[in-house]
Amino acid sequence: MNERQKHYSEIFSTFVKLSREKEFLLDRIESLLPECRESYLDVGPGDGVLMSSVARFFGRTVAIESNHAFIPRLEGLADEVVSGRIEEVEARGQFDMILGSHMLGYVAPSDRCQIVRRLFGHLKPKGILILIYNSVNSDVYRILLALSAYSGKCWAKPVVFRKPGDILGAASGYITLKRDRMPILTNEEKAATDVAEFIAFGDRPLNEEGRRVLQKLVDGYRREDGWWQIMIEHEFLCLSPSRNVLKSCPFLAKQVDFTNC
Ligand SMILES: C[S@@+](CC[C@H](N)C(=O)[O-])C[C@H]1O[C@@H](n2cnc3c(N)ncnc32)[C@H](O)[C@@H]1O
Repeated sequence: MNERQKHYSEIFSTFVKLSREKEFLLDRIESLLPECRESYLDVGPGDGVLMSSVARFFGRTVAIESNHAFIPRLEGLADEVVSGRIEEVEARGQFDMILGSHMLGYVAPSDRCQIVRRLFGHLKPKGILILIYNSVNSDVYRILLALSAYSGKCWAKPVVFRKPGDILGAASGYITLKRDRMPILTNEEKAATDVAEFIAFGDRPLNEEGRRVLQKLVDGYRREDGWWQIMIEHEFLCLSPSRNVLKSCPFLAKQVDFTNC
């Protein structure tokens, strides 16, 4: 484990502890659970808080995680843990549900399509692949844009799947998109700063000027009671080989037919 991975895991755990994000996510995920619940694969589960809540519904859980700092904890939560980057390791078997929550943003854009295709190939016929990521409508996105000038690397590009064509035939049928508003609340100034920084750069530290800008930005989200409220809009991309599975999604916002892509 290197220092960057350790730093990342600490910031992430602070974020999870001080926000209600995972509660909201779980609520949505529960409404998408497949009928058959033998096996569940979580890609990039982080500290496993969300994964373990979902795992309760399944007979067997497999985790693939690239940050070594999370591995010991994950080993206590999943039946099998594969340590490595999803680009380089392969999950064995077929799954009823595969979840990738807030992880595709850390993968190079040129690799994303292929990863989605591969994961899709690990679904059982009535399985569901759920990808969750932050929408460009989120406050976080505005913070990212403002900060990108100080990172030397712009993470604030339009999100992965804005265009259905990005995944072409991977869905072999339908794509489901749902937007959902939810707040992140933190009660420590440092945590609020870390949250934005973590989301913005993962393991990249900001320079002095970047920090100043970040502080000013998060100050804008301070509430009367001393808490911070940053709005995140999540997008859920649900893929399944079965049209019926997608049709039964409770918040099916729109269907896009991929057959001509
Ligand atoms: C923002 S965290 C999300 C954690 C969890 N899915 C959740 O929503 O609470 C992203 C996680 O994805 C992991 N990750 C990033 N890139 C990855 C990759 N290429 N392969 C596997 N895991 C990856 C990171 O190490 C981190 O634990």
